[in-house]
Amino acid sequence: MGNEEIKDDYVITLKDINLKYEGEKGVVTALENVNLNIENGEFICVLGPSGCGKSTLLKIIAGLLAPSSGEAKMDQGIIKGPDYNRGVVFQNPTLYPWLNIRDNVGFGLKMRKFPKEDIARRTKQYLELVNLSEFEKHKPYELSGGMKQRASLAKVLVNNPRVILMDEPLGALDALTRQNMQSLIRSLWWKTNKTVFLITHDVDEALSLGTRVIVMSSRPGRIVKEFKTDFTYNITGDNGDRCRYSDHYLKIREEILNLINDQGDKYVI
Ligand SMILES: Nc1ncnc2c1ncn2[C@@H]1O[C@H](COP(=O)(O)OP(=O)(O)OP(=O)(O)O)[C@@H](O)[C@H]1O
Ligand SMILES: [Mg+2]
Repeated sequence: MGNEEIKDDYVITLKDINLKYEGEKGVVTALENVNLNIENGEFICVLGPSGCGKSTLLKIIAGLLAPSSGEAKMDQGIIKGPDYNRGVVFQNPTLYPWLNIRDNVGFGLKMRKFPKEDIARRTKQYLELVNLSEFEKHKPYELSGGMKQRASLAKVLVNNPRVILMDEPLGALDALTRQNMQSLIRSLWWKTNKTVFLITHDVDEALSLGTRVIVMSSRPGRIVKEFKTDFTYNITGDNGDRCRYSDHYLKIREEILNLINDQGDKYVI
């Protein structure tokens, strides 16, 4: 058996991606020559200055936007549109205000005509996973921001996607809720063995969650540098602070901040 027959483990492959928006004020090149291979089970965190094309990149992987040139593939097949295999969580929770939390979470399965018992069982399971069982009958307006974001997460997870795409999912939350959500996302990733692609503005969030941190340049967005990281395995519980203040962590953190600052965005070190 030749090497060429060994199937690689990439779940997402982006090859020479370019994206141009054709707006009223002319053409905006948002992404230029982006190449990225994502392995099954990786936790990718994306950092970069505002407007550099992070959300554009996520939308291409989601299938919400087609690249102007280049190839975006999942499991060797060209991504042609949105798919339940790639769940998307945005900064603002996407819940239907007129449905209670349980029906919000089960909505996608209902649309896909899953049997009622299946919907009930899976909805219950994922509400438990995000600690919202007690609130299943509540409407979104009766929940806090963090709870709404947990419900949005359950709404995506219930479809059992292989890839979870998150666009600054914790950006609108207060610091404490944010830390709790980070732990939740880390443990969901760990328990469910999913592939995660998460955009953040917070270097510490990226370092404490990701197995790979990607830094993008200012527009047109390109990948400037990638860092393989393993802090996420050690940063939990009592070990968190020791890890966050280790020389290795601080060195990578500073390098990333300098890279981003070089792109023109001023982040506080
Ligand atoms: N629909 C659109 N039409 C025209 N230009 C767009 C459109 N969407 C985004 N852009 C432009 O493309 C560039 C990249 O936008 P994008 O939203 O991907 O950036 P981002 O890195 O996610 O920024 P932020 O960190 O502020 O969320 C920006 O200059 C933006 O103005
Ligand atoms: Mg964005």
